[in-house]
Amino acid sequence: MARFWVCAAAAVFSLAFLILHSCYCGPPMLRSFVFVNRWTPEKPLYRLDLDWPKYSEMFTGTPFCVAVDSANGLVYVAQRGDNIPKILVLSEDGHLLRAWNYTVDTPHGMFAASTPYEQTVWITDVGSGSFGHTVKMYNSFGDLVQVLGTPGKKGTDLNPLQFDNPAELYIEDTGEIYIVDGDGGLNNRLLKLSPDFMMLWLHGESGTGPTHFNIPHSVTVDSAGRVWVADRGNKRIQMFDKVTGEWLGMWDDCFTEEGPSSVRFTADGKYVFFAQLNLSRLSFVAAPPAGSVGRCSVVSTIQLADQVSPHLVDVDRKTGAIYVAEIGAKQVQKYIPSSS
Ligand SMILES: *[C@@H]1O[C@H](CO)[C@@H](O)[C@H](O)[C@H]1NC(C)=O
Ligand SMILES: *[C@@H]1O[C@H](CO)[C@@H](O)[C@H](O)[C@H]1NC(C)=O
Repeated sequence: MARFWVCAAAAVFSLAFLILHSCYCGPPMLRSFVFVNRWTPEKPLYRLDLDWPKYSEMFTGTPFCVAVDSANGLVYVAQRGDNIPKILVLSEDGHLLRAWNYTVDTPHGMFAASTPYEQTVWITDVGSGSFGHTVKMYNSFGDLVQVLGTPGKKGTDLNPLQFDNPAELYIEDTGEIYIVDGDGGLNNRLLKLSPDFMMLWLHGESGTGPTHFNIPHSVTVDSAGRVWVADRGNKRIQMFDKVTGEWLGMWDDCFTEEGPSSVRFTADGKYVFFAQLNLSRLSFVAAPPAGSVGRCSVVSTIQLADQVSPHLVDVDRKTGAIYVAEIGAKQVQKYIPSSS
């Protein structure tokens, strides 16, 4: 009997606490959010910027990639579809500045680079039409400045250079170019070119062993001189020395469910993060110090809604914002550091 009264008193007390708690500590949703945060080590690093873009109707097709020119505050988006402008140029605050589709067939990956003389954007084109199978540089107004590859013709040659479904590229401030080729075509390779487009080194073998690729889909370079490749079909990330091309290691333990479609570093260099298309997820891993690749241990995630399908992403090196091209949701979204 005494036990009954203790329980009843406890129940009444708990109920009173809950009611008072929800009166004074905000609505139940917020409360459960606080509760969840206390019991998971994960604190969100980023939050969605609901104010970007200014008009979501500007995405009239399916955005496959995004590239940020942080020096000039420009965000490029490449979308696929019929009778639409394929390249959109937006401001950092989400206004559409201009657009073009001239000489763009089927965009896949992008990289924004700037010189003191010119604002440029590079696009990998996986189309099978007369502009496809190329890696192209445009100025910020859509004038075609440089074409690598044989337009309209896929191939495996190195001289002259040919591509088949070139997936993405990364360009260092020094002008050195890293290209992953490609997205399920004839080639599974990572090429490094000099600023005047001469081959510096190459890993070109299909397969599952070290340095081999199966759909090398995204590439980036860190401040410690390592090249990171999202080897999507092999469900891993491989790392290379950017000078010699030497294999440094790989991460596969994070990708038992699905391989990475995109790889980037946060602007502060603290995290390397990757997108998983079908899981609709971004995952953050502490960036390993120079001289070691360490292990893949996810410390934070951004779980997007089902079917959003993040394809390729890019980072604003000045503001730290992350832009995500979502082929399921047919939009690009902007995430900003929670601390800002
Ligand atoms: C190019 O974009 C314009 C609108 O900006 C559109 O009217 C035209 O059909 C597009 N062309 C192609 C080939 O998609
Ligand atoms: C995502 O799922 C689709 C449909 O099941 C599949 O065809 C595709 O290969 C998957 N993509 C990846 C990266 O696993």
